[in-house]
Amino acid sequence: MFADLAALPPDPLLGVTARFRADPRPDKIDLGVGVFRNRRGETPVMRAVAAAQARLVANETTKVYLPPESAPGFAPALARLIFSETMSPRIAVVQTPGGSGALRVAAELLKRAGAQAIITPAPTWTNHGPLLGASGLAIRSIPYYDAKTGGVDFAAFHDAASKLGPRDALLIHACCHNPAGADLSREEIDAIIDLAAEKGFLPFVDFAYHGFAEGLDADAYMVRAMARRLPEFLLAYSCSKNFGLYRERAGAVAMIGADETAAKAMTTHAVNAGRQMYSMPPAHGALLVAGALGDPALERDWRAEVDEMRVAVMRSRGLLVEAARAHQLGGRLDFLLKQRGMFSLLPIGEAQVTTLREKHALHLVNSGRINLCAVNEDNAGRIAEALRDVMRG
Ligand code: LMR
Repeated sequence: MFADLAALPPDPLLGVTARFRADPRPDKIDLGVGVFRNRRGETPVMRAVAAAQARLVANETTKVYLPPESAPGFAPALARLIFSETMSPRIAVVQTPGGSGALRVAAELLKRAGAQAIITPAPTWTNHGPLLGASGLAIRSIPYYDAKTGGVDFAAFHDAASKLGPRDALLIHACCHNPAGADLSREEIDAIIDLAAEKGFLPFVDFAYHGFAEGLDADAYMVRAMARRLPEFLLAYSCSKNFGLYRERAGAVAMIGADETAAKAMTTHAVNAGRQMYSMPPAHGALLVAGALGDPALERDWRAEVDEMRVAVMRSRGLLVEAARAHQLGGRLDFLLKQRGMFSLLPIGEAQVTTLREKHALHLVNSGRINLCAVNEDNAGRIAEALRDVMRG
């Protein structure tokens, strides 16, 4: 059966981690996969999550199945966190294995509803195409990032979106665009919502970095504005980054329908699609989120720690820009300061990425994407020096 099955090449993102782990050089730096790192390069368990976990372990008496819609308290807590004053019975939240599970379930839901295509911004997360395309829906991309300015080419994005129709779903990064770090302004978000209302395409929001751009409430601007102004949209939410729960796979799909009946019908389909793919989501991470958000003191501490992480990432951006200036790169990395979140695309090609890895022990994604969280006081100078080497001329 399997004799002719050829091995696949490494995953474009996870392969970077594998290569980093295999690199014996002690001064190697991992600028690859998107995980938060503090100044010491660690990705700690967040304080409120650790406290919720201690309580869970002390009180848990069984591991029997949980309801497939959500671990107790998880979906309502997330709905409150995401939608706040725009909460309504037409919003349904179903737990999924991470944000990736949410994206995949949402794609199934779109297929069942008769969607034709999912349209993604160019560039987008490398796994969007494979993950969403596995539903059988066509995946197309439209212009988004402008490498010349380091911002969004909004005229091109808006123009392409204006050609979409009611059977299309437009995937939009809520904030901290992965891989480019370039986000829509509030005015641009409003204009895309106007366009969705006019043309009838369905916004499909990927919200994986909630809290990392401007803060937890500010970053929810897009989805709350959509909840106020649009009859329908979908949202894939990840707790990997803002709860530091990467390996626990905690996430949710939020489905906003015209009314409560529509939201309930979508819930049955999301649960059923999950049942066909993985039966039910894992409980542990979702119970930790429910625990952290279910206790006002823990929630306050969690909010404070998300803010600390957001400020740390901005600081890392500043460190690299300063180091670039000190290493004769002038203002060539200044664009990093107007971008947000963990990622930015360096203006380098694959050959330069290879040189950075082989000669300088810097590991990054072939597209030139770097995880800014990995930049700190100790290594910013060395990273800038290596970049000067490959960006010279
Ligand atoms: C990333 O883009 O690095 C993260 O979202 C991790 C992943 O699963 O790819």
